[in-house]
Amino acid sequence: MLRFTPPEVFLPFAEAARQEPPFGQQTFRRFRELIYQLSGIYVADNRRYFLKTRLLRRMQVLGLSSFEEYFALLTEPGPDAARERQELLNSIVVVETHFFRSPEHFTALVRSVLPELAARRHHLRLWSAGCATGEEAYSLAMVVHREFLPAFPGVQVEILGTDLSSEAIATAQAGRYFPPSLHGMPAEYRPYLQESGGEYRVVPEIRALVRFAVLNLLEEASVRSMAPVDVLFCRNVLLYFSPEVRKRVASHLVDALAPGGYLFVGATETLTGITDAVQLVHFVRTLAYRKPEGELQVPAR
Ligand SMILES: C[S@@+](CC[C@H](N)C(=O)[O-])C[C@H]1O[C@@H](n2cnc3c(N)ncnc32)[C@H](O)[C@@H]1O
Repeated sequence: MLRFTPPEVFLPFAEAARQEPPFGQQTFRRFRELIYQLSGIYVADNRRYFLKTRLLRRMQVLGLSSFEEYFALLTEPGPDAARERQELLNSIVVVETHFFRSPEHFTALVRSVLPELAARRHHLRLWSAGCATGEEAYSLAMVVHREFLPAFPGVQVEILGTDLSSEAIATAQAGRYFPPSLHGMPAEYRPYLQESGGEYRVVPEIRALVRFAVLNLLEEASVRSMAPVDVLFCRNVLLYFSPEVRKRVASHLVDALAPGGYLFVGATETLTGITDAVQLVHFVRTLAYRKPEGELQVPAR
């Protein structure tokens, strides 16, 4: 039997839509340009509704009733506007991630990259740039703790996780996760998470290996301040940028790499046509990029 929803059920939604302030093409473009200037993130035309709902959410918190008022607030000078710009960015970024995403990268790291680097340096700096809620940086710490440090006890390893979103970084610093973050995590690493009341806490010895901070990859000075980086994971981040920003950020990331340092991008990403300052290196079932080291040859694998 067919059942029809009575029209009165839709009335509250229709009423809510009527009460929303208009979000025309010009308003959409102004916000899109502002977000692009602040973060390099380009909000495509088909994400207009998504942007509108995120803006409305912030406007509701602030008690504002028009997009124009909100835009004016965001572009004022002073710390309140800067804080609100951060809130706006927090609300639009995609912070989807999980432990051991693309596990072949971690295998290449621990089997090939770290031993090669450790033969030449006794202090290694690993950077997860665009780490979202921290699972990537903690995964690095777990492989380092379980597989690398026992074999190379004389090497000091520093791991940094940074992201544009202050909310994501707060979650990373808390080190508490829910089951979706553990999806696909190799069983041998599960002891690094302690279950308590349905959430999973990263154990203290892993937390002690990682430091987190808010960092906007668009800020060249901030990226340069991370140098010299031996291993840089910047996975599934560059894809949110326009081609022009992608090239600029990739070039600064490569500048932050130490000679002979490695850069991993997402499994579906490439640096071909974006920068030629790094060389493609093949590993088992994956690849990464290596910054040339002057006279040294890229070792055969
Ligand atoms: C999909 S997540 C990737 C997380 C992790 N790297 C991974 O591969 O699972 C993309 C992250 O890039 C961050 N991001 C976007 N623009 C950024 C920028 N300008 N500076 C720093 N991080 C940025 C977002 O906040 C988000 O957390």
